[in-house]
Amino acid sequence: MNETIIYLNHETALPPHLANYATAFRLPENGVYLLYDDEILSLAKAGEKGRVCVDFAGGAAHYRRTKGGGELIGKAVNHTSQPTVWDATGGLGRDSFVLASLGLQVRTFERHAAVFALLIDGVARAFRQPEIAEIVQNIQLIHGNAADLFTEHAAQFGKPDVVYLDPMYPERQKSAAVKKEMAYFHELVGQPQCNDDEQLFTAARTVAKKRVVVKRPRLGEFLCGVKPAYQYEGKSTRFDVYLPFQAA
Ligand SMILES: C[S@@+](CC[C@H](N)C(=O)[O-])C[C@H]1O[C@@H](n2cnc3c(N)ncnc32)[C@H](O)[C@@H]1O
Repeated sequence: MNETIIYLNHETALPPHLANYATAFRLPENGVYLLYDDEILSLAKAGEKGRVCVDFAGGAAHYRRTKGGGELIGKAVNHTSQPTVWDATGGLGRDSFVLASLGLQVRTFERHAAVFALLIDGVARAFRQPEIAEIVQNIQLIHGNAADLFTEHAAQFGKPDVVYLDPMYPERQKSAAVKKEMAYFHELVGQPQCNDDEQLFTAARTVAKKRVVVKRPRLGEFLCGVKPAYQYEGKSTRFDVYLPFQAA
């Protein structure tokens, strides 16, 4: 997907938060594409039924919010100290939402234009539901490469206490546990680039005041091969905590 086009099944106007995107009616014959249908923007794949959307009201988000699914990530960012968090790798916003539901102010960066459109749509829908509107108010969405934007944002808004990173992890693509729909997301965003990770990791450790938290599969390698100061380990996920350069 080179440019961000939103496909429509029938003559419907896009809602105001998506009004700037180009639209088309003839669905693509292959690959993944953005589809606006039933008032939801989702990622679809030609010839496949599954869809991927940002869903802050759905079962998984509700479970993580109410059944303590955010416990480990909360500990990793030390949420009881009420840190400001910059989530540099927004994706489908699930981690940002858990952090926001812990009452933290989260600035969420996403560089991929189509993923960013999915995020804006998820937030716009969440604002219509009082129970979760209060949570998404804590999330500020920023479109762009976090590594390029950190300095400018720090000058304007102050440095964050914590930078949170969940870069794409190569082995996830091969894992049988990756659901078919999530494979669309991987197809859209592509393979991680080693240089990218290094640039982002350095920018994060430069701007964070207290810590940088990196999410990894439980048995995954360290980001850029750097050993963390300490770790929080769950059943399938691990959070590696690094000290900022100024404190290391
Ligand atoms: C594995 S996903 C993150 C999933 C996310 N934690 C969630 O809970 O849904 C990684 C995302 O980070 C984005 N990304 C990677 N490097 C980035 C950067 N330097 N700046 C902004 N976004 C970035 C990718 O486009 C992708 O959408």
